[in-house]
Amino acid sequence: MRTPIMAGNWKMNCDNEEAWQLAAAIADEKGDVEGCEVVLCPPATALTTVLAAIEDTNIGLGAQNIFWEESGAYTGELSGPMLLSCGCEYVIIGHSERRGRFGSVADDFTPELQKVFGESDASVNRKIKAALSYELTPIVCVGELLNERQAGQTDEVVTSQVRTAVDGLAADQIDSLVLAYEPVWAIGTGEVCDADEANRVLGVIRGIVAECADESVAQEIRILYGGSVKPDNVVGLMQQAEIDGGLVGGASLEADSFGELITAASASVA
Ligand code: PGA
Repeated sequence: MRTPIMAGNWKMNCDNEEAWQLAAAIADEKGDVEGCEVVLCPPATALTTVLAAIEDTNIGLGAQNIFWEESGAYTGELSGPMLLSCGCEYVIIGHSERRGRFGSVADDFTPELQKVFGESDASVNRKIKAALSYELTPIVCVGELLNERQAGQTDEVVTSQVRTAVDGLAADQIDSLVLAYEPVWAIGTGEVCDADEANRVLGVIRGIVAECADESVAQEIRILYGGSVKPDNVVGLMQQAEIDGGLVGGASLEADSFGELITAASASVA
């Protein structure tokens, strides 16, 4: 039985005061949660604030990014030891917004600007290796663009992303990853992927894990769905056999809605 995970990706939202309020409200509502790992991923500036708010609860802390070097002349970057010193246990790696693969963007976000962070599959792989070396749990995001889905390339895109992400990792290292299937067209758009289809793609991803590691790792690894997960669609998603939880943006920014998602994820294994 795989323990589900409900992870909130706050993206570039919440100053320290707002982060404290939100984390404290979630801790108040769901701090004693069991049967579901709850992870809050605030912006780096609020990591220690959120850590203080979730102290003595079952809620874990995650960062939204990591750089692979330990220290040095890398302006603006954060290393594994820095994240550990803020109390992080998880780190999101390869989110589509970092890869420059955007779902919904402001009109003035030209294709050039969309590539502003420009992370490649190869840099995602390096970041995963760095995170594992510091015993941080990577939450690795993959997913296709709308035009790739329309062209029938979904399976091909996620297969290639997963294969490169785990390249050079031993089976026991792959076992300690969390994967997240996030179709880019569903992120921040309100357009959720059909639960059956999300389940099917997660099955494809599990099959790739079996090839890159082995069948027992494929059965153990947690694979999340992300992209417009909301209280009104979460139950259908969590009932799917392959879906082990959610990576949530918008609906994680409000304690009540995130609480409903946590309830649904916990109930899916009850
Ligand atoms: P969303 O974001 O829930 O707002 O669609 C999901 C994500 O980007 O992880």
